[in-house]
Amino acid sequence: MILTLANRKGGTGKTTTVVNLAALWGSQGQRVLVIDLDSQGHAAIGLGLTYEPAANATIHHLLRHPDTPVNALWQATACEGVSLIPADTRFSGHGEQWPLTGLQRALAKGDILHYFDVVIIDTPPTQDGLLISAMCAASAVLVPFVPHHLGEVGAKQLARLFYRVATEQNPSLGMLGLLPVMFDARLQLHRQTVDRLARQFGQARMLAGVRNNIKLAEAFAHGLPIHCYAPRSAGAQDYRALIQSLGAKNSH
Ligand SMILES: Nc1ncnc2c1ncn2[C@@H]1O[C@H](COP(=O)(O)OP(=O)(O)OP(=O)(O)O)[C@@H](O)[C@H]1O
Ligand SMILES: [Mg+2]
Repeated sequence: MILTLANRKGGTGKTTTVVNLAALWGSQGQRVLVIDLDSQGHAAIGLGLTYEPAANATIHHLLRHPDTPVNALWQATACEGVSLIPADTRFSGHGEQWPLTGLQRALAKGDILHYFDVVIIDTPPTQDGLLISAMCAASAVLVPFVPHHLGEVGAKQLARLFYRVATEQNPSLGMLGLLPVMFDARLQLHRQTVDRLARQFGQARMLAGVRNNIKLAEAFAHGLPIHCYAPRSAGAQDYRALIQSLGAKNSH
């Protein structure tokens, strides 16, 4: 599976979810590759990498130079079973053009699913060529959202983009689900937002949420996945439950 985490709204738990899904799958013996298309470079921090990668060892280099072999770009991380192709934090992309299917072609050419069981792509909080490239390359999209009004608007905008890419560019793209994050079941606003989106997109697409849990932010700052940093925390429980439900979905 090549899974893209996407929401053009910022701060919706995309990178936190990428890092913790990758680390949990890796700890279960899966071979996982994280690709960080977001030039903020946050995925590297969450996976415990402390140095800046050379510009030519990044995924943004590959977009600009599509003949670069993808196999030369990944590196091991501190998390068992998890490799990373990092972002170029100097990349702005303004005014640049590259083929939107370049990443898709590079992953196919490098036979990426021969080396990894799961590839997870983190994306920037924008609707630009990077996000569309990630959706062209993926077999599934997961949309983390914060359950309030603007989070709902962001999830709906993303869904429209998903249908456009699935119709025009990548017919094998599927919607894995919508994931409420920083969820607080005591808040009526959160419950109502989740219910409305579940009615619109189908209850089966609405995944059990990840609660608001400060341990997730602390773990990230320490470069550790939540199941290592605070294994009994609400965040660790919720991400474990999430991979179980995704595993069940995949086997159907
Ligand atoms: N469930 C949660 N409970 C509490 N804090 C969280 C939770 N999930 C994420 N956070 C925190 O919220 C902030 C935003 O999360 P994150 O960086 O994962 O979002 P993002 O969607 O990747 O952001 P961006 O759009 O900037 O890439 C971070 O400080 C993170 O530690
Ligand atoms: Mg992020």
